[in-house]
Amino acid sequence: MEKPSSAAGSAEVRPVQQQDSLTVVDNRTGKRYELPIQNGCIRTNDLRKIKVNDDDFGLMSYDPAFLNTASCISKITFIDGDRGILRYRGYPIEVLAEKSTFLETAYLITHGELPNRSQLSDWAFHVTHHTFLHESIKKFLDGFHYDAHPMSMLISTVAALSTFYPESKDIFNAESRKKQTYRLLGKMPTIAAFSYRHSLGLPFVYPDNELSYTGNFLNMLFKTTEIKYRPNPALERALDILFILHADHEQNCSTSAMRGVGSSHADPYCATAAAAAALYGPLHGGANEAVLRMLMEIGSVQKVTEYIKRVKAGEGKLMGFGHRVYKNYDPRAKIIKRAAYEVFDVMGRNPLLDIALEVERIALEDEYFVSRRLYPNVDFYSGLIYQSMGLPMTMFPVLFAIGRTAGWIAQWEEMLLDPEQKIARPRQVYLGYGQRDYVSLDERI
Ligand code: ACO
Repeated sequence: MEKPSSAAGSAEVRPVQQQDSLTVVDNRTGKRYELPIQNGCIRTNDLRKIKVNDDDFGLMSYDPAFLNTASCISKITFIDGDRGILRYRGYPIEVLAEKSTFLETAYLITHGELPNRSQLSDWAFHVTHHTFLHESIKKFLDGFHYDAHPMSMLISTVAALSTFYPESKDIFNAESRKKQTYRLLGKMPTIAAFSYRHSLGLPFVYPDNELSYTGNFLNMLFKTTEIKYRPNPALERALDILFILHADHEQNCSTSAMRGVGSSHADPYCATAAAAAALYGPLHGGANEAVLRMLMEIGSVQKVTEYIKRVKAGEGKLMGFGHRVYKNYDPRAKIIKRAAYEVFDVMGRNPLLDIALEVERIALEDEYFVSRRLYPNVDFYSGLIYQSMGLPMTMFPVLFAIGRTAGWIAQWEEMLLDPEQKIARPRQVYLGYGQRDYVSLDERI
């Protein structure tokens, strides 16, 4: 079995062998227990039989932030953080970034296999024919203040889709799930582009079905007075690659939110809005925005050493560095760095690039970062690309959300169809007060 860095990963489920067990001796009682090991895991529920007496609730595991807890069995994405490997359904990310398109990759992630020619054209047709938004959504978007953050607009608008498609509550109906998948993938770029245009006070641009998924997104973002918008092929491809790189990343914070909310059987729009909300935070999808702010704050190549000194003194984090799972160069960061140069060839070199390269050079040689195995992550270079394309920083997490929607949907469906899954409900260790007598307001000091 391939050993992933993050718990059970995507390997096949194997039958339990005789020797696949863990012997635990409870020193409180001297009792001995045999816990089966399967796929490199014990079932923490098996710990419950370890008790000091009959009234004891049983042993629990304490794992804040789920550092070593697998919450599901998944067959979607494999990550080996130590070796810098990322694969969707078995295909290396490098191969997909070179040979595939985002829509094809989204099919792979959601269906489990690469599509044949007719499956792909059918898929592209359906996603393309679900890109329009209900006209009322425009009124809804108009209600936002002119400087509303586009990510907040995206989160709210995706949640609002739930009111337009109440049939999406039929989550165990495969046909319904298929329809919501087309809608979510199709409408996400439209909501994103409309949010952007709203913040500029520009009229909304309707989808153009003749363009590719990503070409149409560029059309909805940037079209002005031309009769027909023609996306620059280099920019279209670079953005498509970025969507591929962001399409899934196993049980990260936003995907866990998608599965967690979905586990209560909320409809997929509400679950996706929750996932997008989780993505918004600066430690997750908001990191690319934070990277650019950091590069601007540094201001020049000469000031990088001084800035890194401050980071090492605990005055902040080096944004775009470090990852919960990758303890090696994030494979996506390598691909993005290459794509960045292709965009700069068209749009001109981003002046922040030299500062970024110097940050990377110094950090990769510095003991502090080397010993903690902190390497550039996917967000370190993506912001530079987006900025060169003319997109404001506030749009960066929105672009991340478009790509990640494929993964969220696939993970949501996998969770729903997994007979072992139930409503997500962690335990806690309660260390608060025992029962206390109520003190009336007049008697409180
Ligand atoms: N800069 C400086 N030091 C760091 C950084 C960083 N970017 N990241 C981690 N460290 C240090 C921590 O302070 C800690 O040091 P210590 O052992 O002396 O206390 C050590 O490295 C281990 O870090 P943790 O915080 O335990 O790592 P964790 O897995 O919890 O955090 C995270 C991962 C959130 C990504 C973190 O590295 C970070 O905040 N990075 C900056 C934000 C960022 O780029 N986020 C994007 C992640 S990728 C994504 O979501 C698409």
